[in-house]
Amino acid sequence: MESIAVAAMAAPCQKPRFRAPSPAGALGVGSALGRNIDAMNTSPPKRVEHQQTDKGYVPVYTTDVVEQPWASYSATDHEVWATLFKRQREILRGRASDAFLVAQDAMGMSPDAIPKFDDLNAALGAATGWEIIGVEGLLPELTFFDHLANRRFPVTWWIRKPEQLDYLAEPDLFHDLFGHVPLLMNPVFADYMQCYGRGGVKAHGIGPEALVNLTRLYWYTVEFGLIRQSDGLRIYGSGIVSSKGESIHCLESDAPNRIGFDLERIMRTRYRIDTYQKTYFVIDSFEQLMQATAPDFTPIYARLASQDSIPAGDVLATDAVFHRGSGEGWLNDGDV
Ligand code: PHE
Ligand code: CO
Repeated sequence: MESIAVAAMAAPCQKPRFRAPSPAGALGVGSALGRNIDAMNTSPPKRVEHQQTDKGYVPVYTTDVVEQPWASYSATDHEVWATLFKRQREILRGRASDAFLVAQDAMGMSPDAIPKFDDLNAALGAATGWEIIGVEGLLPELTFFDHLANRRFPVTWWIRKPEQLDYLAEPDLFHDLFGHVPLLMNPVFADYMQCYGRGGVKAHGIGPEALVNLTRLYWYTVEFGLIRQSDGLRIYGSGIVSSKGESIHCLESDAPNRIGFDLERIMRTRYRIDTYQKTYFVIDSFEQLMQATAPDFTPIYARLASQDSIPAGDVLATDAVFHRGSGEGWLNDGDV
């Protein structure tokens, strides 16, 4: 229940102005729909791997938007997609949120072949005005935020190898397409993602600490969020729905905490990047998420600057606890 009065609140992220296209004007309606990609830098795919940077030896990618090289996917690539798609759909029945499953069906994704971005874009454009664009991999933060703020979701064009079915350290096409893209069909979630992008551009201007706070929100909602349905807890986070092990762990294991959504608490909470999460945060609805994140975060960032971060596995006296984790198997260090 979140029938809280929200009326007087000035919304820094105005209701995004998407209007469904009239059948006659399928292309080039509003700017939200036009294929901005034409105006952007396009080039053939090139993956630039493992360059030495000030952060060590990490993957670095071009920020270019690339045409999905669909014809160059091998039979093995399509098989990897099919295997993962079927396996996750099976696991996600009764575990993923209805909203996710409905959206994925509505997009027309199937195990038969790696979907063509153009086909998905036809469905997305009509539903919410979002568009997916091909990229080489992780983007610099500001580039990523700018895409989201303009309703473009960057999708890594390449897919993992058969020996990486269960885990790889960076997003690939399966994670991005199977995990992230379906909920962009959902009008409320679609708005949340755009607002997040705008908030990211702003946080980037405020400073690195604000960005850390905002990134935790993304992590604990978009990537690892749970939602409470009338019939129980369900998954909506992309990092979970694209992982066989974590899809089961997050709901059925005694180890992790499951705690009610609390914006500032989340923005203070560290997280795991190389193990399952120690804590999952539970929303009641995407509307709740929208309302809770609507206020200007500027004063929140200022307030959080003087507060300590919270270790990933801690439970606070003020938490709304659905499940207190047993902590079994937790590593003591490694929170980021
Ligand atoms: N309200 C946030 C701000 O002012 C923007 C935001 C919206 C961030 C939704 C995340 C999600 O910064
Ligand atoms: Co992701």
